[in-house]
Amino acid sequence: MNLVLMGLPGAGKGTQAERIVEKYDVPHISTGDMFRAAMKEGTELGLKAKSFMDQGELVPDEVTIGIVRERLSKADCETGFLLDGFPRTVAQADALESMLADLGKKIDYVINVDVDKDILMARLTGRRICKSCGATYHLVYNPPAAEGTCDRCGGELYQRADDNEETVQNRLDVNLKQTEPLLDFYREKGYLKDIDGQQEIHQVFEDIDGLLQGLKK
Ligand code: AP5
Repeated sequence: MNLVLMGLPGAGKGTQAERIVEKYDVPHISTGDMFRAAMKEGTELGLKAKSFMDQGELVPDEVTIGIVRERLSKADCETGFLLDGFPRTVAQADALESMLADLGKKIDYVINVDVDKDILMARLTGRRICKSCGATYHLVYNPPAAEGTCDRCGGELYQRADDNEETVQNRLDVNLKQTEPLLDFYREKGYLKDIDGQQEIHQVFEDIDGLLQGLKK
């Protein structure tokens, strides 16, 4: 199962990735999570990524492509992977095609979680994440049972540094520019599957699950 999850910031990639990973036990490769982990560890990669992420800009292609190449070569990706938030530019998509060709693999589906851009500001500024297990909540759309506490593990919830209004606006602007050419790239290859991301979270997952069940047959 070689999958790519695409969608604008806040479309629900991380939310759906949690559910896909739980059901299909496929390694979740989120470039955003990898950069945040490097930032937390204070590595050279983390310092480099921080200056771009704090502004809502994309981390340069050569840096991003390098970390994905390294990650995809790990043993746990031999039977499949779920890429979340990569590729985001046509240059990254081209690089991914050649990485996969070198590994003798190809993408099964690019799942595009499609959401109108106008609802994304509210989704992102209301998002809260568990410090311990990374589970994602929303103050209104998907609230935890007890305020500030993760339902799953009891961890403390926090707000991502780039989920403030100004940075979210720039993330949306930057990503909107890149999205159309990337969708065209994958549409032409026949990999693209659009999923309506404006339904309830569980309904979005049902649609993705239906697609993936077909893949298993
Ligand atoms: P990254 O961490 O990937 O952030 P993003 O793309 O901005 O996406 P998000 O994680 O913010 O949104 P999501 O789609 O996962 O939404 P979620 O499920 O949480 O990247 C961060 C930064 O890293 C980038 O800005 C860039 O600087 C850098 N970077 C990463 N990858 C890169 C790359 N390839 N190239 C260059 N730079 C890169 O949902 C959002 C909220 O909505 C949650 O609160 C959730 O509960 C709620 N929600 C979800 N689904 C629904 C629903 N159906 N209905 C109602 N609410 C919902």
